[in-house]
Amino acid sequence: MNLHSLLPTVYRLLSTVSQMLTIAISKGRLQDETLALFARAGLTADESAINSRRLLVGTADGRCNFIFVKPGDVPTYVEYGVADAGVCGHDVLLESRAEVHEPLDLKLGRCRIAVAGRHEVVGQDYNLLATVRVATKYPRITTEYFHQRGIPIEVVTLAGSVELAPLLGLSDRIVDLVETGRTLRENGLEVIDVITESTARLIVNRASFHLKRAEVSALITNLAEALK
Ligand code: PRP
Repeated sequence: MNLHSLLPTVYRLLSTVSQMLTIAISKGRLQDETLALFARAGLTADESAINSRRLLVGTADGRCNFIFVKPGDVPTYVEYGVADAGVCGHDVLLESRAEVHEPLDLKLGRCRIAVAGRHEVVGQDYNLLATVRVATKYPRITTEYFHQRGIPIEVVTLAGSVELAPLLGLSDRIVDLVETGRTLRENGLEVIDVITESTARLIVNRASFHLKRAEVSALITNLAEALK
């Protein structure tokens, strides 16, 4: 066994013994707002480290480590306990169905998850279509929405640039995140129906909620205070 293979175990032992929190932050659209909120709550990451390519960054007071991951991976890191807590959109949580606590709505990154399509299909009767082909980054949310309405669909799962799909004939509709609406507009698409609103949430690992009760409670209280 080499030293490197022991590092994850050592990290987790140290973090449990020291009661240090590891917090998973969504990279991308939520990152800056999230870090600004944490700073107001007293947890400030080193500025130069944030601007570097480092993916694990400690706070100045050594009370916690931030890890920077893809938004869709935040629930996984938290559910498996690699991170004690994390910040991700409600949309990501709905899609992942991870078993985590969700104690706080951080009210950041407000957006909608919507069904959209080209102007011609807006108002079109679904009964006239044999199967609706829907492109999305959210296959579960999409399947549930259409199945609840008894509409047969074929889901085309994409990793991004979903708005291209109806333009190129890959799909009839899309289900995607809409924030300002600019991407839809500039690609000639319109909202057909809003499935749900989404904001960023604080999520907490179930075991950490009990094993690091004092630290997790302080985190929730400080963030709630910073939101006022
Ligand atoms: C998201 C989303 C839309 C766009 C919506 O994509 O999937 O494409 O933002 O924002 P708007 O309503 O403000 O225009 P993102 O920028 O995360 O990139 P992606 O297409 O690679 O997923």
